[in-house]
Amino acid sequence: MKLLLAFLSLALGILAESYQTGNATFYNPALPGWHSDPSCIRRDDTFFCVTSTFIAFPGLPVYASKDLRNWRLISHVWNRESQLPGVSWNTTQQQQGMYAATIREHKGEIYVVCEYLGLSQGIIGVLFKTKDPFNDAAWSDPVTFSPKKIDPDLFWDDDGTLYVATQGIILQKLDMETGELSQPPISLWNGTGGVWPEGPHIYKKDGYYYLLIAEGGTAEDHSITMARSRKLTGPYEAYAGNPVLTARGTQRYFQTVGHGDLFTDKAGNWWGMCLATRSGPAYEIYPMGREAVLFPVTWEEGEWPVMQTIEGRMSGWPTMPPPNRRIPGDGPFVADPDSYDFEAGSSIPKNLIHWRVPAEGAFKISKKGLQVTPSRANLTGTPFGNVETSGQRGLSFIARRQTDTLFTYSVDLVSKPKNANEEAGVSVFLTQVNHLDLGVVQLPPTKPSEEPQLAFRFRVTSDNVPIAVPEPHIVPVPAAWKQSNLRLQISTSNNVTYEFSAMKAGHPESAIKMGTASAQLVSGGNGTFVGSLVGAYATCNGAGKGVDCPRGEPAVFSRWRYTGKGQQISINEVV
Ligand SMILES: *[C@@H]1O[C@H](CO)[C@@H](O)[C@H](O)[C@H]1NC(C)=O
Ligand SMILES: *[C@@H]1O[C@H](CO)[C@@H](O)[C@H](O)[C@H]1NC(C)=O
Ligand SMILES: *[C@@H]1O[C@H](CO)[C@@H](O)[C@H](O)[C@H]1NC(C)=O
Ligand SMILES: *[C@@H]1O[C@H](CO)[C@@H](O)[C@H](O)[C@H]1NC(C)=O
Ligand SMILES: *[C@@H]1O[C@H](CO)[C@@H](O)[C@H](O)[C@H]1NC(C)=O
Ligand SMILES: *[C@@H]1O[C@H](CO)[C@@H](O)[C@H](O)[C@H]1NC(C)=O
Repeated sequence: MKLLLAFLSLALGILAESYQTGNATFYNPALPGWHSDPSCIRRDDTFFCVTSTFIAFPGLPVYASKDLRNWRLISHVWNRESQLPGVSWNTTQQQQGMYAATIREHKGEIYVVCEYLGLSQGIIGVLFKTKDPFNDAAWSDPVTFSPKKIDPDLFWDDDGTLYVATQGIILQKLDMETGELSQPPISLWNGTGGVWPEGPHIYKKDGYYYLLIAEGGTAEDHSITMARSRKLTGPYEAYAGNPVLTARGTQRYFQTVGHGDLFTDKAGNWWGMCLATRSGPAYEIYPMGREAVLFPVTWEEGEWPVMQTIEGRMSGWPTMPPPNRRIPGDGPFVADPDSYDFEAGSSIPKNLIHWRVPAEGAFKISKKGLQVTPSRANLTGTPFGNVETSGQRGLSFIARRQTDTLFTYSVDLVSKPKNANEEAGVSVFLTQVNHLDLGVVQLPPTKPSEEPQLAFRFRVTSDNVPIAVPEPHIVPVPAAWKQSNLRLQISTSNNVTYEFSAMKAGHPESAIKMGTASAQLVSGGNGTFVGSLVGAYATCNGAGKGVDCPRGEPAVFSRWRYTGKGQQISINEVV
């Protein structure tokens, strides 16, 4: 043991040294999978980032890292329905909810400001704070305010006054206690002419107020541009070298580069995080949507920052801290696999999320595994406005982000649907109208004399995509499997195709191929701001009345596995 420790410390010492003698290598995306609009800070030796989550719940994940490579999910800022009562269930659209957040530290507390879209009363600004970002429960209920525009920044000037800049770009003082915003807003800068000047962040450096914004829309024309002024309220002078960072008009694999934030490491070197999409210039297939990427920034005194072009493999500053996974908390690191058996007494893993706040008690861990009470609404539901079947009152869906280009995901179904139309399955889910499902379903009889039939069903729903949707495929569950757990599996056969199969749990040789689907079916569509989730659902497909299924017997899942098998980091390289 002693010898092993001695060897380990020697090895780590050599490793640490090698990071100080040359530029360190790191890979993008730093936060793989749907992680849009990152905002980051450093406190002592720990970096913290928050990202956008729209209607997903819990929302606004906070990741912590000591080395800028290993990022642990430590909490969600929005983690209790009681923080914003009734808000989630009143939100109808797929891409409303929590837009771009900003994270900042002030006087020992960490603040996250964000804006919630989709309610009839207009945009609600929300300012949360905590002394302990490692603990969900420590995030406060928000102070709310009424901004006119999205993407709030937080900036405390030297005299302690708090300012919020938003899309436009406009500036207002914010009273942290009452939520009062100063009027009228001051117009700071309109950007360089790209659409949607937004996502502002203000930094004070070398006697200047630097304003960093996103411009050009969040797709191929996205960019970061900057302006500066000696006075916070302007006039702002645009940088002659704008855009500071973009992939616009390039053939690069990482497209849509923009919407970023800057911070320093302990050695004083600058870094940035922004969003990018791994689509290549074709910008057709990008199931993971907008991901967070890291880049070194050179920012000399009195000068404009110079940002390194976003690539899959990057050279960081030699001061990049050596690998270090000593981050407290029970959440997983973003790039780690899942291996969840849902043992009695365990809690629901932190990286598993829902589409809107779920119905109370819909997800429970019991002796048998993860119990999911089916929702009457299936993943698609009916058009919005019908709260009973649209999914607005919570969907029984639990999922993680697809974080790898290539992966295998499977879960075992321990119980089987008993009543007609009941279904339990797995899905690659972008929005309620863009999802690829493999379910075990009790197909209702076509004639009164028949019994319902237990079947595997592969079924694709995809709106607003320019390719054909595959036909459903139904295979009766073999009679000999009726006493066994059933394993439902989604894997990638290449960087653009998913493969769905069903088998007797523990018997890969029994696998029935249920279908394949192009990743284009979950790219863009009705979810241009979000990214694919993979997970499990239970529903009765609209049977009965009200919000709940007529019998509502829970589906039970166990042995949840997700393993990354490869990341595409350039047009021709997978690592
Ligand atoms: C949600 O909608 C209901 C019905 O329109 C309304 O009474 C309630 O105030 C709304 N709640 C919120 C938080 O918007
Ligand atoms: C930005 O554009 C608006 C609308 O045209 C204008 O009122 C405002 O003065 C402009 N702001 C600046 C700083 O130029
Ligand atoms: C890495 O090394 C190159 C070549 O020596 C240098 O130009 C660059 O500034 C260094 N730092 C980063 C962050 O790449
Ligand atoms: C999907 O997008 C289409 C076209 O923009 C829109 O008409 C439809 O309402 C959207 N569906 C949902 C469920 O958001
Ligand atoms: C999903 O639910 C709706 C009604 O809520 C129903 O019309 C539709 O057929 C269901 N889909 C499937 C695959 O059963
Ligand atoms: C998939 O791989 C092919 C071949 O390496 C490459 O040309 C293409 O850009 C990749 N597509 C995506 C979306 O990664």
